[in-house]
Amino acid sequence: MVPNIVHITDQKERTANVFITAEIKLLSDLGFTKEETGYIEKKKSEDESFIVIHGIPGSKFVKIIDDVNLSNEEKEKLRVNGYELWQTLKKEKQERVTIYDLAGSKAATLAIAEGLALASYSFDKYKTEKKNESTKLTDVFIASSEVNAGDCSELQKLCEAVFITRDLVNEPVNKLDVEHLSNRVRELSDKFGFSADIYSKSKIESLKMGGLLAVNRGSQDPPAFMVLEWNPKDAKNEKPVVLVGKGVVFDTGGINLKTPPGSLDDMKADMGGAASVIGTMVALASNDVPYRVVGLIPATDNRPGFNAYVPGDIITMFNGKTVEVINTDAEGRMILADALSYADKYAPDLVIDLATLTGSAMVAIGQYGTVVMGTAADESFKELENAADDVHERVVRFPFWKDYDELIKSEIADIKNLGPREAGAITAGKFLGNFTTHPWIHMDIAGPAFIGKEDKYRGNGGTGVGVRLLYRFLTAKAGS
Ligand code: BES
Ligand code: ZN
Ligand code: ZN
Repeated sequence: MVPNIVHITDQKERTANVFITAEIKLLSDLGFTKEETGYIEKKKSEDESFIVIHGIPGSKFVKIIDDVNLSNEEKEKLRVNGYELWQTLKKEKQERVTIYDLAGSKAATLAIAEGLALASYSFDKYKTEKKNESTKLTDVFIASSEVNAGDCSELQKLCEAVFITRDLVNEPVNKLDVEHLSNRVRELSDKFGFSADIYSKSKIESLKMGGLLAVNRGSQDPPAFMVLEWNPKDAKNEKPVVLVGKGVVFDTGGINLKTPPGSLDDMKADMGGAASVIGTMVALASNDVPYRVVGLIPATDNRPGFNAYVPGDIITMFNGKTVEVINTDAEGRMILADALSYADKYAPDLVIDLATLTGSAMVAIGQYGTVVMGTAADESFKELENAADDVHERVVRFPFWKDYDELIKSEIADIKNLGPREAGAITAGKFLGNFTTHPWIHMDIAGPAFIGKEDKYRGNGGTGVGVRLLYRFLTAKAGS
């Protein structure tokens, strides 16, 4: 559960206390002893800016900042301080925290609260023991003249959207197959007020979404194609931004079964793109952002069932192009292709797809960033980069030169679904480029979507990458 994040003007009892300050002497008026302020001075001189004073009944935390306006790097440090704070609170079994902003810094206050809230996520619903013992962060109170109740509620709702996304990614396929995912999307749409239209297999057949149907052929379960819409009355835009998310609920590789040791282990997370699109729709709707956005999710598992598609097959896609299948493990691009062409019907201003698409992107930059490329104007990439740096979900733009098109030409069809090993993330992007005619950004989140080991406030497992980034990007477009 996401903690309540609440603006306060009165003091709350029985909470752990965090003080953000530019001047250590201000702490003396707040009950800090001479020894304590002396200790803080000493730590500061040793270049430590986040200081814990252990005490009974609870510890006190002090964050020293130099300026109310923070660089992106400093904001990130504060989020990490929020994570460190949570490590101590857990040990001390403190579930309520007050953050006192003595420095008058909205950026610092919200960053520490964000890191703390995001760090407090856990996915333990299937543990039958110890559930009641574990500490849950319930309340974050914020006492700051620069932060208002609206800022707190926006942050809480954004964190909730990230938690929803992480949950979706962390659920294994035996608990979250396409049908469960569809039901979950319906629930979320009812709860948060965006619309959800979920196309059944027969509708997908009548639309001739050849890529999605091909990948689904080895599965016991029918595919789904989800259309989510957030259409606020006061929208700042007419033409929507369309978000497309890869919804492979499990990727076995299909007939080209994944065989390298460990390569199947995290493939429940192959719907990370879909989860981030869903989370972004939740964040936009719950915060009533005045911007029109459509989410499209092609969903299936990729299995080697008896009628599975096989290498050599030629598939006619939704837009009429033909694809020669080289490898059934390159399934993400097959289903995304149909969704990207379907996006045309919205005459979008911009299309962004999110996908755990290639091992190649992960090999290239690891878990710390998202590989991006596409046909959108440089300005759109710049806006995305700015949002990415702001929320510390960084992106790296890869080349998208014409030369790469050669690598996926087929002898017998229009294109093939796999190029050579080199530039694998780019040829995957190039493949997708055949299916969209609008300004488009492809985000390969294979590296950061799911991580095997705790990484500060990103936690461990599903990270929810993309939600905070797209929320920032879209709210900036909406002018807030
Ligand atoms: N879902 C995988 C990509 C992936 C790999 C995501 C590791 C996260 C972690 C995708 O469908 C895939 O299998 N891609 C292959 C393509 C290929 C060589 C057949 C890849 O990139 O290895
Ligand atoms: Zn695959
Ligand atoms: Zn995949």
